[in-house]
Amino acid sequence: MAWTRLAAVGHGSFATVYLAASSSSGDLFAVKSAELLNSDFLQTEQRILSSLSHPSIVGYKGFDVTTENGKLMYNLFMEYAACGSLADEIVRRGGRIKEVTAAFYTRQIVRGLEYLHKRGLVHCDVKAKNILIGGDGLKIADFGCSKWVLESPAAVCGTPMFMAPEVARGETQGISSDIWALGCTLIEMVSGAPPWPTAGDPVSTLYRIAYSGDSPEIPSFLSATAKDFLGKCLRRDPAERWSTSQLLKHPFLGELSFGFEIIKELHSDFESPTSILDQGPWNSLEEGSQTLLKTETWEDDRIKRLSVFSGEIKWKMRDDNWITIRSCVNDDN
Ligand code: ADE
Repeated sequence: MAWTRLAAVGHGSFATVYLAASSSSGDLFAVKSAELLNSDFLQTEQRILSSLSHPSIVGYKGFDVTTENGKLMYNLFMEYAACGSLADEIVRRGGRIKEVTAAFYTRQIVRGLEYLHKRGLVHCDVKAKNILIGGDGLKIADFGCSKWVLESPAAVCGTPMFMAPEVARGETQGISSDIWALGCTLIEMVSGAPPWPTAGDPVSTLYRIAYSGDSPEIPSFLSATAKDFLGKCLRRDPAERWSTSQLLKHPFLGELSFGFEIIKELHSDFESPTSILDQGPWNSLEEGSQTLLKTETWEDDRIKRLSVFSGEIKWKMRDDNWITIRSCVNDDN
């Protein structure tokens, strides 16, 4: 498939994620690229992602190898989530997500984790930055650390702040370690802060997680139901943590079914564009006053008009004005 790299939308330690467009159809997708020589983790992610299909998991769209500026690049194609990550969403909502919305989001993450865990897959790096906001809901992404439960023990992987005690001690990283990280992610959503105080160096935080006997502090402003839910995720003994199937029956997630449609409606304006050719001139006109993040060599006149401005996607009109085709700004918090 011929495609064009558009703007960079995210950076990881080993790869960069770009918005891309199919040259024939104009369909938009995301491409995660790394130099072929350093792409083992991306190839592992490709093998895992290509075996998965679920509404709460980022959709797989293929891969290829290209030569760019004399370098061989490995490219993993996936569904494009125009609103970025849950971490971006926390910032957009002023640093805190309301409990009812956090419960709605948590339910979708738990559904995705249930799907992975039933297949014997541990994600190993659950956190807001690795959850994407798609047009039809939240999507678990970034499988670079993931592993199969039955795989021979691999080195511990993930983000120290979100590591369960048994992972911090380097003992084991299993399905219940994802549940601990889910609890940390819920704290991140409702408080806008990491699960552990950031004062102190990462090594002493890791030591505290591993050996202190403490769990992250549960925010006092939460309802008793939300606190109870967090308590089930943040048990220090992995054998005592609830499974995804148990969590899906917890009242914190269950009681929400009544408000589901209402919240869904709140998010109806988050639908992603699927093709640059779908966008017409009936969108509201806006001055292109913001800084262009990054431009690439444009191959196609249709693609040339699409650009990403600080999280907003804009389309250039013939008169040189820009129209916004995707903005994730919301005021419902
Ligand atoms: N950042 C990382 N992966 C992404 C994706 N698939 N869509 C949008 N932003 C991303």
